[in-house]
Amino acid sequence: MTEAIPYFQDRTCPYHPPAGYRPLREAGPLAHVTFYDGRKVWAVTGHAEARTLLSDQRLSADRQNPAFPIPVERFAALRRVRTPLIGVDDPEHNTQRRMLIPSFSTKRVAALRPEIQRIVDELLDRMLAQGPPAELVSAFALPVPSMVICSLLGVPYADHEFFEEESRRLLRGRTADEAEDARIALEEYFTGLIAHKEKDPGDGLLDELIADRLRTGSLEHEELVRLAMILLVAGHETTANMISLGTFTLLEHPEQLTRLKAEDSLVPAAVEELLRFLSIADGMLRVAKEDIEIGGSVIRADDGVLFPTSLINRDDTAYPSPDRLDLGRSARHHVAFGFGIHQCLGQNLARAEMEIALRSLFTRIPDLRLAVPAAEIPFKPGDTLQGMIELPLAW
Ligand code: HEM
Repeated sequence: MTEAIPYFQDRTCPYHPPAGYRPLREAGPLAHVTFYDGRKVWAVTGHAEARTLLSDQRLSADRQNPAFPIPVERFAALRRVRTPLIGVDDPEHNTQRRMLIPSFSTKRVAALRPEIQRIVDELLDRMLAQGPPAELVSAFALPVPSMVICSLLGVPYADHEFFEEESRRLLRGRTADEAEDARIALEEYFTGLIAHKEKDPGDGLLDELIADRLRTGSLEHEELVRLAMILLVAGHETTANMISLGTFTLLEHPEQLTRLKAEDSLVPAAVEELLRFLSIADGMLRVAKEDIEIGGSVIRADDGVLFPTSLINRDDTAYPSPDRLDLGRSARHHVAFGFGIHQCLGQNLARAEMEIALRSLFTRIPDLRLAVPAAEIPFKPGDTLQGMIELPLAW
């Protein structure tokens, strides 16, 4: 076993895993990393092993388990409350998930496409009218998924500055107290919004849940507030990062971008390859409830287990030349959306948003380019969702 390396580390290039993770990759499929508090946890980097373990119900996502691994200090706030869906195991998880699945089905998402296209077109009209230059994160990458999830949930987009800032503090705040303050602010917001909707219903998913579940007593108020918060935060931050980092990555791979522009049918495969290549949610966590034998190693009960998606998605036994962006490859079976019972609920929606956003952006502005040298563009630190902080563009 090689020496445990520290985790998280910052990326040196926004679209490649940190150079410091190399020993992990070489030691795979299972190795060890150390977290901020010195705790040593398993890191699963093998693609086959990761999919086997992510489907194993002996691994738990329950953040309130005292043995659940906490990679950075501010995530300690996660322990303080029960997080529905992403932080609970079956059978509770299954009950919550089944309630939401119809709203994120391929059929529902297909019906949302015209609305997504309308949002994308309006934002691009505005960007073209005002620029060049333009800052893509604030003008396009963040508002697209933010407006879409607001419309789906029935949350007023007028409140976006508030919830975008609180989501940022929740995911990227400096301390556990800051993350906790952000959670409380968002919970208060949703408590108020739900009270308002109970009197004056609208037509979003939250309104449906109030009518069909809250009123009938099959969903508790607190659970609805926390579910709403998770859906809102997960529904905009993630896709926004994929749009900004995806655009940056395509501009940095001009031969791939030319291919994409020439062949519209390539867009869905290109989105899958970008998901694999960028692996923006780079570190799913679990705790073992029992001993698990895998790949010649034994994960003991109470051991922490980390799934670094950026390494799993670059396992060369699953993807030949994994460090090469190849929009024509079949990137299917990547774990950028996770795997097993917690596999991303919003993946159909995220795919539709990315396809429409990237296709429209490069069709409407074919000569899009970086407005400053790539090395000067700030991107996010390693301990949060990966993406661009700003993306100045010209045309
Ligand atoms: C490209 C964008 C996205 C990426 C890369 C992404 C990534 C992920 C990953 C890796 C997980 C699994 C976490 C784990 O197993 O611990 C997950 C779960 C989840 N995602 Fe996404 N996500 C994206 C977009 C969305 C969107 C648009 C929504 C919409 C609401 C969403 C909602 C959720 C929810 C609710 C879960 C928890 C599912 C469960 O526990 O059953 N995500 N996502």
